[in-house]
Amino acid sequence: MPAIQPVVMVVDEKAKDYAESSAPIRQELSGPPIHATNEMHRFATPWTVARAKSKLLDDCNLEPGIILDPACGSGTQLAALCANLNQPGLGVELSGAVAPLAAINLERCGDWAEDGSNWSESSRILWGNGIDANEILQIYREHSESTLPISLLHVDPARPPDAQQHSLSEMQPPLDKLLSAWAPLMPPQAALILDLSPRLSDTQREEVAAIVSTIWPNSPMTWQWMTQGRGRIDRLSLWVGPAACPQPNRLVRLNKSGDFSGIFTGESEPTVVNQKDVEIGEHLTITDPCLIASGLAESWKKIASMSEPRWDVVTGRRPTLISSEPILSTFHELHVSEKTYEMVFSFVQISGEVVAYIPELEIHLIQEIAQKAGDLGLSSLKLRCALNPELQPKLQSKIDREMRNISQQNASNPGFIAEANNGYLICKEHDSPAP
Ligand SMILES: C[S@@+](CC[C@H](N)C(=O)[O-])C[C@H]1O[C@@H](n2cnc3c(N)ncnc32)[C@H](O)[C@@H]1O
Repeated sequence: MPAIQPVVMVVDEKAKDYAESSAPIRQELSGPPIHATNEMHRFATPWTVARAKSKLLDDCNLEPGIILDPACGSGTQLAALCANLNQPGLGVELSGAVAPLAAINLERCGDWAEDGSNWSESSRILWGNGIDANEILQIYREHSESTLPISLLHVDPARPPDAQQHSLSEMQPPLDKLLSAWAPLMPPQAALILDLSPRLSDTQREEVAAIVSTIWPNSPMTWQWMTQGRGRIDRLSLWVGPAACPQPNRLVRLNKSGDFSGIFTGESEPTVVNQKDVEIGEHLTITDPCLIASGLAESWKKIASMSEPRWDVVTGRRPTLISSEPILSTFHELHVSEKTYEMVFSFVQISGEVVAYIPELEIHLIQEIAQKAGDLGLSSLKLRCALNPELQPKLQSKIDREMRNISQQNASNPGFIAEANNGYLICKEHDSPAP
């Protein structure tokens, strides 16, 4: 890439007119106004997520200083970090179309906060290559007259769009070059947050950790998986140095409004699968796949149930735990703190008692299945198993119709159909607290 001279983006009337005409304002209910084109919006961190990530730094001992984002895109994550830490930001963006919008977004966010903080006064966005560390810092210092050290480097590199898998070298800017360029300009105990693709393999995670520990040997690191409970890993990030928490792995569950409904930390251990035929009367719990990905499933299981639980399925979007009692229901488990209780249930998608087997799940059998569910006192049946995406809605609407037809007066319990080692099962849903 040819060297480009970094330029400070000035927020003047001309820049504002450009933003109004090229990228309409998008504003989440609880967030600041953000200018973003459709393309930027696809990659921008939603405000609720950006704010939650910044709040995770509240317990960290970060030195006061500049928050650097050398590939800042819309500037949303940078703005959330600056606003929460009340520290100035330095963002760098390679795209000449995006950089002026990021500068306006950062300024608007400073005004929107209305809390008297002045972090946006010495914040700057530069149009340039985030790898040109020396030039960027020099221009920033001349322009802002700030002599503060860099206290945190956050980066969310661009990756190939829609790629299920990609190599580390495809990240832009490349992590190794970026971190080596900034390391000499940062304090020895650097705080970093590296936002990575949730699809990185374990080997790729090791490669990222090796890049960091080559540059900052012995720096503590925490891998973080973030989930919003939609049966997938929403975000994967590596927190380094003062940004790390005392444990190597952290799992964070956010609710719809971006508040934490569960944070679970620990050390990774392999998940033990024990597939036995599931019996009627056993309890089936579909958990968040992040539990497995984070290596924290075994530690979570020990808190969730003492009644000999076993993992029946650990792959895909519906890891399934089988236990002889509902989770957190025995005497000892009932005495856990409210926080632990919430944490355990925040990683549960659904749980219930197994009440019947279904030999096959086919459209011509739905009437029979619905009749069986109705006879067992169930008022509804939701499909909670992997099905062909074209078939799933057809089956579900036929189930809903049939359940309405046979609806029994006294049937009030919702149910669901899950899949375990020995086939499809009808379950009576437990009324556990929804996370
Ligand atoms: C995933 S987006 C960042 C999104 C950002 N977290 C947000 O909240 O909007 C990555 C950004 O890095 C920019 N980028 C890629 N290579 C860069 C480089 N060498 N220097 C600076 N920015 C770069 C891309 O143009 C893109 O806007």
